Amino acid sequence: MNLGVVILAAGQGTRMKSALPKVLHTLAGKPLVAHVIDTAKSLNADKIAVVYGHGGDQVPKRIAVDSLAWVEQKQQLGTGHAVEQALPALAGVERIMVLYGDVPLTSLATLESLTAKASESDLVLLTVELDNPTGYGRIVRNAEGRIERIVEQKDASEEELTICEVNTGILIADSARLHQWIARLENSNAQGEFYLTDIVALAVAEGINVLSAKPKDLYEVIGVNDRLQLAELERHYQQTQAQRLMRDGVTLRDPARFDLRGSLEAGQDVEIDINVLIEGRVVLGDGVRIGANTVLRNVKVAAGVQIKENCVIEEAVIGEGCIIGPFSRLRPETRLAAHVHVGNFVEIKKSSVDEGSKINHLSYVGDAIVGKTVNIGAGTITCNYDGANKYQTVIGDNAFIGSDTQLVAPVEVGKGATIGAGSTITREAPPETLTLSRSKQLSLKSWKRPVKQPKD
Ligand code: UD1
Ligand code: MG
Repeated sequence: MNLGVVILAAGQGTRMKSALPKVLHTLAGKPLVAHVIDTAKSLNADKIAVVYGHGGDQVPKRIAVDSLAWVEQKQQLGTGHAVEQALPALAGVERIMVLYGDVPLTSLATLESLTAKASESDLVLLTVELDNPTGYGRIVRNAEGRIERIVEQKDASEEELTICEVNTGILIADSARLHQWIARLENSNAQGEFYLTDIVALAVAEGINVLSAKPKDLYEVIGVNDRLQLAELERHYQQTQAQRLMRDGVTLRDPARFDLRGSLEAGQDVEIDINVLIEGRVVLGDGVRIGANTVLRNVKVAAGVQIKENCVIEEAVIGEGCIIGPFSRLRPETRLAAHVHVGNFVEIKKSSVDEGSKINHLSYVGDAIVGKTVNIGAGTITCNYDGANKYQTVIGDNAFIGSDTQLVAPVEVGKGATIGAGSTITREAPPETLTLSRSKQLSLKSWKRPVKQPKD
């Protein structure tokens, strides 16, 4: 089947009280409309058009996805008018599905049940029963239970307002018919808008048996109107992800205090303590343990690694059996080979550290290549920046860097070299040699500590 999808995202979202268009607010770190676009893509739609309007071109600018048609709706004259704007961009498709940019959690399975029914009818609606249907368009059925029309809240009679089956807004229609129905829409209603929902009565008048499908879960059709609803959907989404991970064998110490904004691929027996935030694409090998309050963003962690509490790690690759933290910060382009130890208050950036090396306390390692089984003492700093340019530090295998050393890059420390504590190293330190730059220690026997003069 040749399918086109139109995503409506032109509305203002007044209740968000935001300068940002509503559909750009994020759920699990991703703009609402991007969730909908991704679902449409997984449906293998042949054409996808997004109708934007409020907030100018912020939406197309922010959502950089190929193969999308962006259609501007200059004035928001109603959902029918919005779909009409997208029709030229969807030329040639057989069927058109309408999705809302502010309804982020519709599942592929639900949309597939809608497309499956589209072979039986030229118009299929996704509807749902609500205990409190206030605000929604009501599905009016005849005595035989067939759909007759949709009536909006503001246009409904007392009796119609008691109907609990509502229109989710999501539907699929035969493209040729949709063109004809939309051309006939009028705006003589309580809101003076061109309602897409009026196509239902037009279809019924043509003798079409309008069908309905139901979502698997109520959350799938809930739209975001304010920040409370956004938070509610976020919690639901996080809960679902946490449950999925636990079913797949990940231990989450508290699923309510775990957030995944992206994708997590985890091996066997991974343990994640409370308040861990995972962003982007994260891979954790077998037996990895993550301590409380840690943030991992685009990180690849090999088996057996222990990341202790309070670490912030981004765009790094961590080899087998490393021990990181507590309080370590690994910045982009950090590569740790197997069995490296990185301790508290250590920052590493754009550096590779080879097998078995230790940087256990209070150090900054940036733009460095560190060899195997190197020991970097507390308070070591690679001075990689002269205010204009960045330079590299190279430290050979088995080197020992004494505490409180500054390595002024570009500089090289040879294999097996020892640097005496408190040194400022500005030239090459030869291999297997002790190098130190330290002022001589003095002890002055005649010196007396000053004493306070008594006041009179
Ligand atoms: C609409 C439906 C209603 C349904 C409800 C579900 C109509 C007339 N009514 O009502 O039956 O129960 O959604 O939430 O369709 N939009 C545009 N351009 C416009 C108008 C709207 O892009 O000119 C977009 C909005 O950004 C939003 C969606 O369409 O994503 C729905 O618009 P909204 O104004 O929220 O419609 P409702 O009154 O809620
Ligand atoms: Mg609405």
